[in-house]
Amino acid sequence: MDKFFKTILFLCLLVSVFISSSAQSCSNYRFSNNNLNYSTCTDLPQLNAFLHWNYHQANHTVDIAYRHTGATSGRWIAWALNINGNGMLGAQCLVAFTNSSSLVHAYTSPIGTGSSDYGTSLAQGPLSFNVPSIRAVSTSNEMTIFATLELPSGRTSFNNVWQEGPLSGDTPAAHSTSSANENSFGRVDFATGEAGSGGGATIPRLKKKNIHGVLNVVGWGIMMPVGAIIARYLKVFKSADPAWFYLHVACQSSAYVIGVAGWATGIKLGSDSPTFKYNTHRNIGIVLFCLGTLQVFALLLRPKKDHKFRLYWNIYHYVVGYTVIILTIINIFEGFDILKPAKKWKNAYIGVLIFLGVVATLLEAFTWYIVLMRKKKAGSDKHAHVGNGVNGYHTRTQQAA
Ligand SMILES: *[C@@H]1O[C@H](CO)[C@@H](O)[C@H](O)[C@H]1NC(C)=O
Ligand SMILES: *[C@@H]1O[C@H](CO)[C@@H](O)[C@H](O)[C@H]1NC(C)=O
Ligand SMILES: *[C@@H]1O[C@H](CO)[C@@H](O)[C@H](O)[C@H]1NC(C)=O
Repeated sequence: MDKFFKTILFLCLLVSVFISSSAQSCSNYRFSNNNLNYSTCTDLPQLNAFLHWNYHQANHTVDIAYRHTGATSGRWIAWALNINGNGMLGAQCLVAFTNSSSLVHAYTSPIGTGSSDYGTSLAQGPLSFNVPSIRAVSTSNEMTIFATLELPSGRTSFNNVWQEGPLSGDTPAAHSTSSANENSFGRVDFATGEAGSGGGATIPRLKKKNIHGVLNVVGWGIMMPVGAIIARYLKVFKSADPAWFYLHVACQSSAYVIGVAGWATGIKLGSDSPTFKYNTHRNIGIVLFCLGTLQVFALLLRPKKDHKFRLYWNIYHYVVGYTVIILTIINIFEGFDILKPAKKWKNAYIGVLIFLGVVATLLEAFTWYIVLMRKKKAGSDKHAHVGNGVNGYHTRTQQAA
């Protein structure tokens, strides 16, 4: 049991390293100018964009570097704070593009708040706060805007918006309305980002949702069914005893740890959202957490193989286990409906389910064949099998009898 808890601890560590490293890939970036050194950064959740900054509390200014990768010549990029709103209207923009003189032109442009301002061509103009410096540099596959902002007083947390679109001559034209272009906004807190441990910024909400989705699909949706398949089919082979048991425990406990990490991010997402309305998804999630926890603790209460309650324990373990798998699959599809990721992710998961289904069906047929052959060999004395200690064999022999 000591080993078991050590394994769990180790997996917890792995999961937290995974979460924190995936949240900070911008922190591996080195600016080619060595004098540039930003203490904080965040991977913006859309459009291959990254925001790096240093916040100076003394004069309430922030030096930012907004990097946009994959923006080629003939495109404009923009990053903005929206002081009183949260989308495009009212955004106070920093804009850059390579103009017809092959120079990188960087300037500020405020967007008005009337509905006609959706048609803005990002004309140059002063923002509602001071921007003492702005410039931009461009390489073949990346453009970066460097600027210093004098932040509006009394706050450090703002909505920010960023965008990328085509040029018409030397004038920015309308950006595309793909989901990435429509969802490129979020919050940024320049002070807490800097103060956060390890220099990590707050993880954008969409990223949290994606982490939640990936952890749960991997933990509950893939590893748990695989662990069940291992237990059900491997144990039929005498040579795999007791290896199947340790594999099963290792698989399910890592699935549980990853799954609980995913579950916790989900609960946090729900409680952080004032408009959370996915009660079915949350309630199934809570039931799953309870059942999954019950399974882990049931392991500690497992009667010995020849104990008279062992059969009841097995029945309980199967019923709860299969219920968890079925509820998980239902809830993952609920999650796909809520998060609406690109269709390929849902299809990929359906593919995994079909694959596992086919594997399970083939193994079901094959192991029944083995069990029946063994039974035939052993003659009609079914009590001869009772003592051999291989559960699946035992159960199936009873089923087959
Ligand atoms: C960047 O700044 C931090 C603290 O401000 C400092 O510890 C670090 O050495 C700097 N790195 C470089 C490469 O200048
Ligand atoms: C704000 O303060 C920082 C350091 O305290 C300094 O480097 C920077 O030049 C100041 N910015 C302005 C616009 O005064
Ligand atoms: C291109 O941008 C540079 C730098 O901002 C500017 O000096 C120049 O006038 C611009 N050229 C045109 C044609 O707008």
